[in-house]
Amino acid sequence: MAKPKIENTFNSPLFSLGLFRKLILIMSKNIFVTKSMDVLMKEASHEGEHSLKRTLGKTNLVMLGVGAIIGAGIFVLTGAAASQHAGPAVVISFIVAGIACAFAGLCYSEFASMIPIAGSAYTYAYATLGEFIAWIIGWDLILEYLFGASTVAVGWSGYVTSFLKDFGITIPESLSSAPIAYDTATHVYTATGALINLPAMFIIGIMTWLLVVGIRESANFNNVIVIVKVIVIMLFVIFGWQYIHTDNWHPFIPENTGVFGEFGWSGIVRAAGIIFFAYVGFDAVSTAAQEAKNPQKDMPWGILGSLVICTIIYILVGLVMTGIVSYRELNTPAPIAVAVNAAGNGLNWLRPLIKTGAIAGLSSVILVMLMGQPRIFYSMSRDGLLPASFSRVHKKYKTPYITTIITGAVAMVVAGLFPIGLLGELVSIGTLLAFVIVCGGILVLRYSKPDLVRPFKTPFFPVVPILGILSSLGLMYFLPGDTWIRLIVWMAIGIMIYFGYSKKHSKYGQEAK
Ligand code: ALA
Repeated sequence: MAKPKIENTFNSPLFSLGLFRKLILIMSKNIFVTKSMDVLMKEASHEGEHSLKRTLGKTNLVMLGVGAIIGAGIFVLTGAAASQHAGPAVVISFIVAGIACAFAGLCYSEFASMIPIAGSAYTYAYATLGEFIAWIIGWDLILEYLFGASTVAVGWSGYVTSFLKDFGITIPESLSSAPIAYDTATHVYTATGALINLPAMFIIGIMTWLLVVGIRESANFNNVIVIVKVIVIMLFVIFGWQYIHTDNWHPFIPENTGVFGEFGWSGIVRAAGIIFFAYVGFDAVSTAAQEAKNPQKDMPWGILGSLVICTIIYILVGLVMTGIVSYRELNTPAPIAVAVNAAGNGLNWLRPLIKTGAIAGLSSVILVMLMGQPRIFYSMSRDGLLPASFSRVHKKYKTPYITTIITGAVAMVVAGLFPIGLLGELVSIGTLLAFVIVCGGILVLRYSKPDLVRPFKTPFFPVVPILGILSSLGLMYFLPGDTWIRLIVWMAIGIMIYFGYSKKHSKYGQEAK
């Protein structure tokens, strides 16, 4: 086989900065090596013992996106966003966060159609910004996918515990909640007295098993639960609409209390930062590129289609929820259930369905997150940045089973120990950082490699990627300072692993010497 062509980002005119360039090159030999498009495309078309099966069509990809998106964000976190920060204007917050995601979604689509191989933003960065940035984003995506799965599993645990309670089955709190709490005011971690969140660990175990058994089966299972959760939400919107008291929408934007982020416009943006979590996941479609039948055409569909569907659903749910009940009463982990209860006897029949829908909805989010993570590890391992065993594909099931099991085991521990708020903010900041890098990658690549075939092009270039970077940074800015510190610590650990292991074992870095 011909030796893959190695390129170095610093050879592009964009980075020709004289002395600075020389200094950086000496200090960071080979860390900006890029994987050439030829190599990437060869990998994408390679079908063999270690390749993944191409079974997903356009509909499956949209379903995969919706499956990853609608979850704890709308079912759990919307209540806090409306009651403490935005009031009925949480609807505007959904639009603000949705617009930021749309910019990033367009950039993701350009990449996904151009480089249709597993690995998501990690692969895109490797092709454009070089190995080091690729590592950074790959490491960062663990926050989105692995920690994302844990976060939603904690929400799942809450709904399941309450559902079982309705049938007289009580799971003791000490076995169904986080043993660790974090006080944002004092910045101290405390013990809650609980032992472990067992239901959260249980659901991760089940999903991990499902993913080891096969993507096709997982996609079918995903389709069923996506349909269930969308139907339940639509029932809430359609039947709940009749119980709206428009008085509840006045004032639509409650007056700011004098504290930044408590209602008024600052509250709307703060709420957008929180409910951004509700959109996390549309990019998970891109991690399945290597399993898509026709990735060039279908990836943009999957990404943008699922984003549009979910934005519409969120706006409708926000309107109905804050229309049925005053936003002041929504400070609860189950805001939709509270709204249904407030509607009175007329919606009695909907009560058990809401919980069932939420449980199904959260399950599919966990599934897609746990599916995305091993596929990123798979790509990183094939590039030598992680041990080779990480890319082993199961002979019978054709799934990256080793990484699936490792991901599941770590996600289980995280879900068993930490509270949802802390995890959710970490997932949001990690995902936003990935958006910044992806939008930046689109900018760089249009200038450095203008001739590449782009089956899908981000419109209004360079406005969209620039706005994508700015809006993601804006939402990051509104997340608490503690979350920033956690992100920095996480990244510092990642950088140590890169220089301690990955750089030395990198396939392309070695070849570039
Ligand atoms: N968007 C996903 C959720 O809300 C992560 O659960």
